[in-house]
Amino acid sequence: MSTHIGAPAGAIAPHVLMPGDPLRAKWIADNFLDEVTCYNEVRGMLGFTGTWQGHRVSVQGSGMGQPSLAIYATELFTEYDVQSIIRVGSCGALVPKVGLRDVILASGACTDSGMNRLRFHGLDYAPVADFGLLRAAYDAAMARDDVTTWTGLIFSGDQFYTPRPELMETMVEHGVLAIEMEASALYTLAAKHDRRALAICTVSDHLVTGEETSAQEREQTFGAMVEIALTAGLG
Ligand code: HPA
Repeated sequence: MSTHIGAPAGAIAPHVLMPGDPLRAKWIADNFLDEVTCYNEVRGMLGFTGTWQGHRVSVQGSGMGQPSLAIYATELFTEYDVQSIIRVGSCGALVPKVGLRDVILASGACTDSGMNRLRFHGLDYAPVADFGLLRAAYDAAMARDDVTTWTGLIFSGDQFYTPRPELMETMVEHGVLAIEMEASALYTLAAKHDRRALAICTVSDHLVTGEETSAQEREQTFGAMVEIALTAGLG
């Protein structure tokens, strides 16, 4: 048991998929895994362990935002000896060339978060994905013809309802493709604990065009992303 995860030692697999929404964790377990057990219900932040093509894997909700994700990622790394975490989430597109339902493999994650500022005493750290996971996810994504995939920078913001959305313009001018709320802290923590991490996001809304996906569309592209993540981590 750790402070926020009610699982006994050994109940969590070395490789973890991490959606923000705990009900997405259940959906992944129900639709993709065999021999599933639920190891965590503390705070409703569901966690499951099962097998995918014979490989043991866990799925753990992170909640929204970097402080919440950091609690679960830290406990998985330090108390359950988890070796790799792939975030499977959603993001908002910031540039016209990226379309609704596209998949983004986040090679790096910029942030406005106070978490990195506190950790690095005001210096700018560049949180990046594990290259092996990124390359494996890229190969898995390129092998399918049902998703358009981008590899590049995303921005992990602390505020979904930001009072200054125009601040993203400078980020876009420097190659940032999309915005979400978790990847940067995940990459920083993986580096700190010498573990592997990657964030894969499907585009659920478009900040340039104002378009949004329907719940059914989100489920469909979410499934493709989960398969890419499982293949990258375990294939
Ligand atoms: N902003 C921040 N996080 C998000 C968004 C967004 O527009 N869409 C999905 N996650």
